[in-house]
Parts: sequence; C-alpha cells; structure tokens
Amino acid sequence: MDLTRRSFLRFLLSSPLLLSAHRVSAAECFAEDPSFPDAARELIRDASRAINVFDFQPVARRNLSDGHYAFLSAGVDHEVTLRANRRGFDKFGLRPRRLVDVRTIDSDLELLGTKLSSPILLAPIGSQGAFHAEGELPVARAARAMDHQLILSTGSTRPLHDVARARGTPLWYQLYTPRIRPVTSWQLDRAADAGCTAVVLTVDMTGLGGNRDRINRFHREDNPACESCHGANPIARGFGAAARLVGIEPLEIKARCATLDWETVDRMRDATSMKFLIKGILTREDAELCVRHGVDGIIVSNHGGRAEDTGISTIEALPEIADAVAGRIPVLIDSGFRRGSDVFKALALGASAVCIGRPYIWGLAAFGQEGVESVLALLRSELQTIMRRMGTPSLSAITASHVQRL
Ligand code: FNR
Repeated sequence: MDLTRRSFLRFLLSSPLLLSAHRVSAAECFAEDPSFPDAARELIRDASRAINVFDFQPVARRNLSDGHYAFLSAGVDHEVTLRANRRGFDKFGLRPRRLVDVRTIDSDLELLGTKLSSPILLAPIGSQGAFHAEGELPVARAARAMDHQLILSTGSTRPLHDVARARGTPLWYQLYTPRIRPVTSWQLDRAADAGCTAVVLTVDMTGLGGNRDRINRFHREDNPACESCHGANPIARGFGAAARLVGIEPLEIKARCATLDWETVDRMRDATSMKFLIKGILTREDAELCVRHGVDGIIVSNHGGRAEDTGISTIEALPEIADAVAGRIPVLIDSGFRRGSDVFKALALGASAVCIGRPYIWGLAAFGQEGVESVLALLRSELQTIMRRMGTPSLSAITASHVQRL
C-alpha cells in the first residue's frame, strides 16, 4: 500500500465521524494479544465509560498504526512469557478475612524515602511519541494529577527536563547505559540535575537484538519512518549526544552495549547519591547479589514478556525473591498487572509496590492524559475494593496469610 493511501485510511479510521460505526472486533484484539481476555466488545467513546483497563486496549489498537501497536503489544519469541504473566495470577488464590473494620482503606506507603498514596507505579516505557503526539508529557501530567510515582525511560522521546517539569517531584529515572564510564556519569548527573531521586538500572535488555516476531511481521507491512513520525531512536540519540560530549565515537557506544556486570553496578552505585534500583531480576540468586552489592531496591520483571521466553510469570518468580531478600530492601514487581486483585496478590507475596506498563499506554493512546488518569483511577479503585473484601484496611495489613498457592 502506498504511503498516501495508507495515511488517508489511517485518517479515516481515527476520524470521530467513524467512531460510532467502527468496531475493533474482539477477535482482532485477542488474536494479537491473547493475554487480554476481557476488552469491551464495542469501542468506548470516552475515558469515563471504561469499566476496566482492558477497555482502553481496542481503542488504542484503533488509534495506532500497525507498526506502533506491534511495538507496544509484542512479546519475545513465541510469546509464552507474555501469556504466562497473565496466567500466573490464576495460580494464586485469596484467603479473605471477615468482620474486620474496613470503613477506611488506606493505600499510603513510603518507598525509598518517598511518600506515595498508592503502591501502583508507572513502569518505564520508551518511545511514547509513537503513542501520542505529546509523547511522555500527558503521562507525566497524569502521574502528577493522580499522585503516582513515574519511572521515566532512557528512551523518552521528550527531553528529561521537560518531563521532570510536567511531573514535578518525585521522578525516578530508568537507565540503559553502555559500558563507558563518562557516558554513564553524564547520564546520572543529568538525571540528578532534573531532580530525579532514584535511578533504575534495567538489566534484562543488555546486548542488542531479541526475537520480536510480531514486530518484525508487522513491520513488513507497516514500517513507519520514525524520524518523521516521532523522532530518531531516543536511546541512540541520547547515547550519541553523550558520546559527543565526552569525546567518544558513537559507533563505540553500540559495541559496548553488550554487557554489564556486577563490577559496573558497584561503580554506578558509588557514582550517584540517588537511590539505586535494579530492574529485571527473576531469581533468588540475583536478588541475593543485589542485596550484597548495596542495591536499594529490586524490580522483579521480565520486561512484560519482552526479554526472554522463560515461560515463568513474574508473580511466580516473586516468592523466592521475596524470601531471599527477607525485607532487607524493597521488592517491586511488574509484567502483566491489569487488576486490583493482581496487585493485591503481589503485595501479599512480599512486594512493596507494583508497576504497570501497557495499560497506561492503552489509556494514553486512547484518550491522552485523561485515559492515563482513568487507568490509574480504575486500578486504585479495584485495589481498594479488594482490600475491603479481604479485611485489610492498610497495605501493612496485607500478609502472606491472605494468599494461597493453588
Ligand atoms: C517497555 N519496557 C521498558 N522497560 C525499561 O526498563 N525501559 C524501557 O525503555 C522500556 N520500554 C518499553 C516499551 C514498551 C512498548 C513496553 C511494552 C515495555 C518494559 C516495562 O518497563 C515493563 O517492564 C513492562 O511493560 C511491564 O509489563 P506490562 O505491564 O506491560 O505487562
């Protein structure tokens, strides 16, 4: 299909005139993303009509080009882990306690020195310019309005300082970095200068490549020229800028993205006064090493099924990690969280907080800031409801006794 025709069709599909007539069939959504069993059969017209977070997914699907939607929804290889993340929650049941006074439900917590009103954080998602014309800014504004912790990706399409202004404090910075000390220092200094209070080093995407079959297949049909639609690859652009500043050839950067090790972690840990978390931990062995290397927090994550096809959901990986850490540092978790009861299960299994990824991007792509706010409001409300049902008026009341492996 030539570009003009494709743009015209896209314009037609996103036109409000067609909104009432156009339906994204359930089959169309589910075939692409079998982990979402419950989206609305008919597209919602505004954010307030959403019954749960799945309702935003088909609207996002309609609004995005095939290539961008594939980038958002894809897992790795056969997407076994992507599906496992959702199925994992079914392997844990709940043990409700009755006759507890739950007139007030309190979801406040303190996490690494920051007071938060909800244990639901926004996970780092790169290239948000592919999902909304204003990129990361509506998400930052929604995080501010709803008082949720945001972790900004190294791959932000909008400048870090602009997002920091839109969010205000607290903001955490997710770090992808090559093994080049001056570049890392430059990145860390910049994050601290923007007011970030924590840095989150992602360790499950080191090295290049990864089999994202779905992305590759879609890109055969629809390969948007990202330079003209949402800017150059922001990670490469950021590294390039850093390389020029510290006098290194950009090509050298690519060559040194391949590995990080514990020695690099020690160096980074010492080079910053920001709190230092590691994202992408899946085993008790690595959790133990995180504690030994002075890391301030762990995010149990398989990158939303995008790193390797382990076939193991993060909720199933959580118990051994929480057990190894034994409360010495906070353990956060992400990948597949879509319901308040999912969040509850993670808290009961030892997590301090939960991050969500794709659901808030569905909200963003569907209705901008309002969509993101609505996704957060729905999850907050679902969490409050399940806390009430379970007889747990505060987060500290949620314990291992409220969950049972089935
Ligand atoms: C991601 N994720 C991610 N992680 C990270 O550390 N840095 C990044 O830049 C990105 N970018 C990114 C883009 C897209 C499109 C997706 C879907 C994911 C992973 C993300 O932080 C988180 O681990 C998962 O999204 C959580 O899974 P769910 O909630 O999407 O199922």
